Parts: sequence; structure tokens; C-alpha cells
Amino acid sequence: MTDIQKAAQIIQEGGLVAFPTETVYGLGADALNPYAVARIFEVKNRPQFDPLIVHVADLRQADILVQKFPDKALKLVEKFWPGPLTVVLPKSSLVPDIVTSSLPTVAIRVPHHPLALGLIRESGRPLAAPSANPFGQVSPTTAEHVKKSFGGKIEMILDGGPCRIGVESTVVSFVEKEPVLLRPGGVPLEEMQALIGRVAVRTTASETPLAPGQLPQHYAPRTPLVLEESLESLPAGKKIGLLTLREPPDVSPYAAVEILSAKGDLREAAANLFAAMRRLDERNLDLLVAHPVPHEGLGRAINDRLYKASHKK
Ligand code: TXA
Ligand code: MG
Repeated sequence: MTDIQKAAQIIQEGGLVAFPTETVYGLGADALNPYAVARIFEVKNRPQFDPLIVHVADLRQADILVQKFPDKALKLVEKFWPGPLTVVLPKSSLVPDIVTSSLPTVAIRVPHHPLALGLIRESGRPLAAPSANPFGQVSPTTAEHVKKSFGGKIEMILDGGPCRIGVESTVVSFVEKEPVLLRPGGVPLEEMQALIGRVAVRTTASETPLAPGQLPQHYAPRTPLVLEESLESLPAGKKIGLLTLREPPDVSPYAAVEILSAKGDLREAAANLFAAMRRLDERNLDLLVAHPVPHEGLGRAINDRLYKASHKK
């Protein structure tokens, strides 16, 4: 039996399998089995009001889970699926309430990863899968990260190496008259706008959590993190870690420095973000300082994660 066949059997029997996607690792269960999905919430310690994304292999499999695809949603998925784009649409009666936290809508995407697609196809089931991390903590971009949180607690972890994109999918809702960006992610806002025109932005960075799961603190390391262009003065006598895009002019104040992309490439930075945050978190520092990155392309998703990781006073 191959690993995919083993994993598919676990899914069919109502078990949990962590699997790689191009964005982050997911913690998957059969989306049509409410008992299996309930275990995701339990293992992650995730509040029931935070709905899950359903992963499917293609548009045909997505179609039966929703009422219909509006033209603009169709345009987007035709271009970006398989890929880091999640669309929120009115759900069909097939989707259990526990998946959507009883919302009348469902979030769906087609991941761009051979192991994820292999698992969906082999099991024949759509997979409900949040990121494979305990609720509120940093998302996993390697199988090792998943093992640290959930080793022994779930039936299987499929190892596909490090995730190529490194930040979660872009979430866009098509429930209102105009499309609304709920979470910036792997597909840049600019690329969506080029295709379908105006997309309203309603992420937590704008301070108004409207959708469930848009909690202000999320993706957080244990070490306090501040997001600042430049701190006037660093607190004395503290061990401080720096998370920054490029090499800073002076590294001497810091006990540890993580550079996300020496050449300032935002795609490379996104791919390194969560692993870098985890490395800093393991150094037993007193404080992490993160510099915001340029707010364009994948920079929007990076700034969103940094903002949510920052501990509010
Ligand atoms: O890249 C990703 O999207 C990863 C991989 C595993 O696919 N998954 C992921 O799942 O990030 P999760 O559960 O960590 O984040 C799902 C987000 C949450 O912010 C949730 O509130 C939102 O999607 N969401 C899910 N269903 C929704 C709905 N019906 N309406 C509005 N937001 C929804
Ligand atoms: Mg998550």
C-alpha cells in the first residue's frame, strides 16, 4: 500500500491526516463526515465558531458543494485553481453545519500539491482542513512542525517537504454584491483586481473583525512580538530577536536576527516567514521585533500575519 492509499483509507474511516499543500500543512478530515470534522476542532482546540476550508480536486467537485458560482468567482478560480485561492459561496445542503460553523456559506479551494490532490482523489472525499497548528499559533510549513504539535494525536502525517508559498490562501467572499477580500494570502490582491475589477478589503488589519476566524490575535509565537518600523529605543537588558525582510544596517542590538529575503523578494520572504518565526520563538528571547514589509503583492499577506502575531498592549 502506498502512503496515499493508507492516508485515503484513514480519511474514509473518519480519521485525521495532516497533508502538505503549496501554502501550509493542513489537518484534514472527510468534510462530509461530521464526527471526523468534530475531531479537527478537538485536536486543534479550535472554537466552534471558526469555519473550515473544504479542499477539493477540481471545479466539478466544488460545484456540488455550492449553490452556484457567480461569474467573477468562476473567472478567478479558472485562473488560480489549483492554487492559493479560497472562495466563499452560498453552500449546498451536502455540506454539514459543523464545517461552516452553521453559516449558510462554505469556503472552498483546490490546493496545488500532488500529495493533497492525490489524497482527495484516492479517498474520493472533499477534505475539511484548517492549518495543522493548535488554534492561534504559528502555521506549519514542514511536516516536522506538524509533528511537534500533533505527533501521536493524529493518525498520519504526509511529508511533502517545505511548503512552496508559505502563507495561507487568499480568502475572497462572493456572498454580497461585490467581492470581499477576507484574508490576504498567496494570490495577491492586485492580480485578482486585474482580472475582475474592484475587490473590497475587509481583513482584521482594518480593525473590524466581521467574519469568524478573523480574530485579531492569531499566527502568534509565545514570545511577545511587536510590529514596528523602528523602535525609538530598544528596552535595555532584554534579549531581543529581529524579524526583517533584508539585512539591517546594525545587528548589534539583537540576540538573534532572521532575514526573510536578502534580495528583498516578497515571495521568498513569505515562504520563509513561519519557519523564521518558529526559530526565533525557540531561542527563549524576551521580545521579538518585526519590521513591516512593503504592502504590495505577497507583502500584504506577510504584514497581515505579522500584525496578527503581534501581542497587543
Ligand atoms: O492555505 C490555506 O488556506 C490553509 C491550507 C491548509 O489550505 N488552510 C487554512 O485554514 O488556512 P484555516 O482554518 O487556518 O483558515 C481558514 C480561514 C479562517 O479565517 C476562516 O474564518 C475562513 O477561512 N473561513 C472559512 N469558512 C468561511 C466562511 N464560510 N465565511 C467566511 N470565512 C470563512
Ligand atoms: Mg490557521
